[in-house]
Amino acid sequence: MAILPIVTYDDDILREEAQPVTEDSEELQALVDDMFETMYNADGVGLAAPQVGKLLRVFVADVDPMIEQDERDIPKYGPLAMINPEIVETSAEELEMEEGCLSIPGVNAAVKRAARIKVRYLDRDFKEQELDLDGWPARVVQHEKDHLDGVLFLEHLSFFKQKLLSAKLNEIAKGQKETEYPLAPKTQLREKG
Ligand code: NI
Repeated sequence: MAILPIVTYDDDILREEAQPVTEDSEELQALVDDMFETMYNADGVGLAAPQVGKLLRVFVADVDPMIEQDERDIPKYGPLAMINPEIVETSAEELEMEEGCLSIPGVNAAVKRAARIKVRYLDRDFKEQELDLDGWPARVVQHEKDHLDGVLFLEHLSFFKQKLLSAKLNEIAKGQKETEYPLAPKTQLREKG
């Protein structure tokens, strides 16, 4: 297993649509292992493959640390790997909750999303699964699924809110933001992406 460097918000790869996974492989299993290790190392609750420079429809999540801080009674799911996920139902009710992103270190903002969802996906054994999610798990899955479509949480914010964050965003783009986890150098990614 390896800790992979994480690309930052200003990298073009995060604006691309990721490709469906067509078959199980050693490379895919290694990628999922590395993504879990990378996410836990960064104290993250979710990480999508494009964030480590791979344009594949895969993400990992482990929302249990957030559920432990939540007063509501929400089930725990442990580590989740979702391959080719589809959000097949969304509640009409929306909630505004504070989000962050490992690709946008030090930036948090309230984002409005569906309160509840149903997600269909392949687990890492390539078995089809369906989950009805509420609260933080629903939030994180929507955020990570967005990454697979080239969408960052910033795009859910008003122009005014984005403007308020621009100083912090510029700091990240210039490589001046210090993080406790490795960030990917941009030149290298532009060659890849
Ligand atoms: Ni993110």
